[in-house]
Formats: sequence, structure tokens, C-alpha cells
Amino acid sequence: MIDCLTLHNFKAFQQAELPLGPLTLLTGLNSSGKSSVLQAIALLRQSYEAGDLAVSEYLPEARRAGMTASVANQGFLLNGELVGLGTGVDVLHEDFPGGGEPLIGLGVGEGPYHYSWLVEYEAEQNLLPLFHADLPLTSEGAAAPTGPEAVTPSFLTAPFQYLHADRISPAEFYPRDHHAAIGRGFLGVRGEHTVNFLRHHARDEVPEGPLRHPRAESYLLLDQAAAWMGELCPGVDIQADAIEGADAVRLSYGFQGTLGATRRRRPTHVGFGLTYVLPIVVACLTARPGSLVLLENPEAHLHPQGQTRMAALAAAAAAQGAQVIMETHSDHVINGVRLAVKRGRLAPAQVVLHYFRGDGTGVDFVSPQVDTDGMLDQWPEGFFDELENTLDQLIG
Ligand SMILES: Nc1ncnc2c1ncn2[C@@H]1O[C@H](COP(=O)(O)OP(=O)(O)O)[C@@H](O)[C@H]1O
Ligand SMILES: [Mg+2]
Repeated sequence: MIDCLTLHNFKAFQQAELPLGPLTLLTGLNSSGKSSVLQAIALLRQSYEAGDLAVSEYLPEARRAGMTASVANQGFLLNGELVGLGTGVDVLHEDFPGGGEPLIGLGVGEGPYHYSWLVEYEAEQNLLPLFHADLPLTSEGAAAPTGPEAVTPSFLTAPFQYLHADRISPAEFYPRDHHAAIGRGFLGVRGEHTVNFLRHHARDEVPEGPLRHPRAESYLLLDQAAAWMGELCPGVDIQADAIEGADAVRLSYGFQGTLGATRRRRPTHVGFGLTYVLPIVVACLTARPGSLVLLENPEAHLHPQGQTRMAALAAAAAAQGAQVIMETHSDHVINGVRLAVKRGRLAPAQVVLHYFRGDGTGVDFVSPQVDTDGMLDQWPEGFFDELENTLDQLIG
């Protein structure tokens, strides 16, 4: 699990050290830096998956030994499957401290290990060249094994999902990309592989534990997904089918009591919200101990009660051992997580809350803590206080 993320000259952050937990909520005003946190993690994954992060190489030594070729393609790959960040000029923090060559850095703490990568600034480049990659260091400062035994950070190789705020909309057909959905188990940043994934894994069991929905027809993924979708939209069930002779899959919905068993509705004939949240439900339900799940605005297009239930599902994924980091604007999501703590589904220490206050020049954040009753130890100004503010004005 990533328990600390360091950002240096990265977009809105000049320098920040952000503690992360099994369930982390990133909140704050628009443009306050929430998505940038997810993007930083995704950027490291993307660079690693492209073979551009030399985690086991000690660069300065490699350089001294004249091994330039081996490090030539190392660095941050700014544009790829997970994130499209533009070029160096978009990523470098505008007000980097003057003097010297600007460097952009990201660091990740995982238990006793700390990893960091510093890259050089190249205004127009898509790959920012690696300047320095530290070996993992233990908290005592002793170097971890080097060479082939070097420890690869687990967040780079763990099962991973990253769902952007902008996700799939209802469609007649969805892509059938075997490599992404089945080979890698990746739902796509817009959730575009979810239907194919669900079709292929429909009969996988959701393991015993907090993710299992008590009222689902079975422990199988498709029934479990249907039961959780039913929490968000009562009475709904879902089906995912391959289309013979076409590289596409189809999703359909049934509604108890309104349609016969054989008549099903296409996504384009049910509310937008259902299709929009399906990737989030599947990402949470398939999260396992060690998985890393990044979610942008899981509440989007859901009614308030659905938002609270969505938070319960994310809390269940974290309780099952996954790490869930989500950006949210929703009181109902925050409250759903607080309720999960109060009900003992998650320990208070498993929840990390950050409230970002960007002031246009940098990012500042505060981190209210949840106690066993689900209460917060502080309530900074602007932190989900709009309901109260408006009520005061209505009543006053
Ligand atoms: N290179 C940069 N230097 C300084 N600030 C930046 C840079 N790139 C983006 N930003 C700032 O980051 C903010 C956008 O961050 P983002 O994480 O998308 O916000 P959120 O998800 O909270 O809405 C904006 O305020 C933008 O001005
Ligand atoms: Mg955002």
C-alpha cells in the first residue's frame, strides 16, 4: 500500500507530502489539485508499464559506468493509456523555486520502503528524462538489495484500476478488447472495457467478506454486481453478452416488476447514471488485497442515497484489503465513509481525508480525522459546509 506520496514541482504542487491510507478521500474546491494526485500515481504506473522507470537501476552509478544506453529511455512518460499530461511545460509547477535546473519529482512510501524519481524538465518533451532514481531505502536509511533483487514497488505491479470522471455513456455496444479486459483485467480509464470484463468474469466468485452483498442471488460476480447496482437503483439487474461475429459486447438491464424475464432494456433506454456507475461498482467488487483503485468522482450521476451506498462499497473494497483513493465532491460519499467507520466496517485509522485549498499559487491541505463514532476532529471552513451556510441564509 502507498502510505505516502511526495510531489515536487508537479503541476499545482510545489512541494507536498501526502499521507494515504487504505481508503483516502481527496476533497476540495474545483482546480485545487485533487486529480493531480491521482495523475501522479497513474503517471508512475504508465511510465513503468511502458518500461520507462528504472526501478532496479542505480542511475548515478550507471552513468558513471558510462551506461547511458540503458537509461536513455527512462523517465516520466507524460502521455499514454492512463493519463495525457501534455509536455514538460504543462507539468512543471509554474513557480518552481528559481535558480538551477528545474526538476520534477515524485516519491512513494510503501511501508519501510521509500522510492523516488526525479526527472529533468524538457519543455516540449513527452518523455521527461530520468535524472535520479533512488533505490528503496528502509526507514533506518539502509539500502535495500540492489541489482536483480531490488524491490519493485508493489503499486507499480499490483492489480490496478483508474477511472476518470469522464466515463462511458450508455451505448448499444461496447468494445471487446481481449487484451485489456481479460489479459490485464483493466476496465479502461473510461470504464470502456467493463462490459466485456463482466461478460468474461461473470462467474468468478466474489470472496467471502465485506464486498459480498448479502441479498445477491449468488456469490458470482455478475449477481453481486447486479445486487450492488440494485442498491444504487432499486430492482435493477444486469446482463452482459457477446455479440456473435462482432468484436463487441452488449449490456442490458432488467427491472423487477416492470418487465417480463425475457424483455430487457438497452443502456440507451435506462437512465444515464446506471451505465456511468457500473465501472465503479465492478472496480470495487473485483478489488482484492493489494489492489490499487483510483476513482474520480464515483458519485457522479447518482442520487444522494446511491452516493452513500457507493461510499459503503468503496469502504468494503478497502476493508477487503485494497487501497482505494478517490476524489469526491459529495457530502454523501464522505458521510457514507463516516458511517462505515461508525459501523465498524473500517477502523478510523484506515480512512484518510484531505481537504485541498488551492489559492492559485500552490496547494495547501488539511486532513480531518474520523473517530470511531464517525465524527471528524476538525471542520475547516469550506469543507462540506455549504448546506449549513445556505440553510442559515434561508432561515435567517
Ligand atoms: N504546471 C502547473 N503549475 C501550476 N499549477 C498548475 C499546473 N498545472 C495545473 N495547475 C493547477 O492545478 C489545478 C488543477 O488541478 P486538478 O488536480 O485538475 O484539480 P481538481 O481535480 O481539484 O479540480 C488548477 O488550479 C491549475 O491551475
Ligand atoms: Mg478533478
